[in-house]
Amino acid sequence: MPRVTARDITQMKAKGEKIPMITAYDYTSARLADEAGVPLLLVGDSLGMVVLGYDSTIPVTMEDMVHHLKAVSRGVQKAHIVGDLPFMTYHVDSAQALSNAGRLVQEGGAQSVKLEGGQMMAGTVHRIVECGIPVMGHIGLTPQSANTLGGYRVQGRERKEALQLVKDACALEEAGAYAVVLELVPAPLARIISQQLTIPTIGIGAGPHCDGQVQVLHDMLGLFTDFVPKHTKQYLRLAEEIKGALGRYAQEVKDGSFPTAKESFNMDESIVEGLMEELTVPH
Ligand code: KIV
Repeated sequence: MPRVTARDITQMKAKGEKIPMITAYDYTSARLADEAGVPLLLVGDSLGMVVLGYDSTIPVTMEDMVHHLKAVSRGVQKAHIVGDLPFMTYHVDSAQALSNAGRLVQEGGAQSVKLEGGQMMAGTVHRIVECGIPVMGHIGLTPQSANTLGGYRVQGRERKEALQLVKDACALEEAGAYAVVLELVPAPLARIISQQLTIPTIGIGAGPHCDGQVQVLHDMLGLFTDFVPKHTKQYLRLAEEIKGALGRYAQEVKDGSFPTAKESFNMDESIVEGLMEELTVPH
């Protein structure tokens, strides 16, 4: 089965095809997303929050990313896998960025990498791309910079900020990025940016005019309920379903109704009898 490439993703925009993208962090969910036909999977550093229980993406390490990428890679045959570069693994200089991007591809099995930042990161993006690793940009609300952005708030509502985001997007395209994530950007601005670029925009909380959409798997399945972002559509309420199932399981173990003969294994009755006699086990 041919693997979706970064080039295929860029060409989807030219063909007028919308691009669905979803996060994945483990073998089972990645396999399900791949089988469902989602062409683009992101092993995002959001795993720090929805899988590892941190209150931000800042503590996520390269080791965390490589570990989860490996699991996702084992579950996927067709989808294109993007690996997120975590906080401070690409900021020092282009050499640091290139070496860590290389690890995500070589050790983790990603086919491309994503990093946060616009104009300021253009040189780094250029360097990684010229060494053969496709790069997806990420602008707007960049969670790794939440401390300087004043939290998780919509970006680009004012003229100056909006113009900067347009410049950031153009700089990423110029540097060779094959797509760019727009996070928490007003829909009219996301539309303008999408029209300015040849490469696709992938929105999260950026309205319907983006060329693609990305959601955090645990949010859209209703599995992560610490908070539900406004931009999330819950297609399932898995947390409630799972809690219900676990409650029934615990109850059945306590009252002895699980397991039954159906979930148990048997053996030859004569061997049982022999054992009981030998060991003087009462009937
Ligand atoms: O880490 C992540 O899940 C992301 C998406 C929100 C785009 O970066």
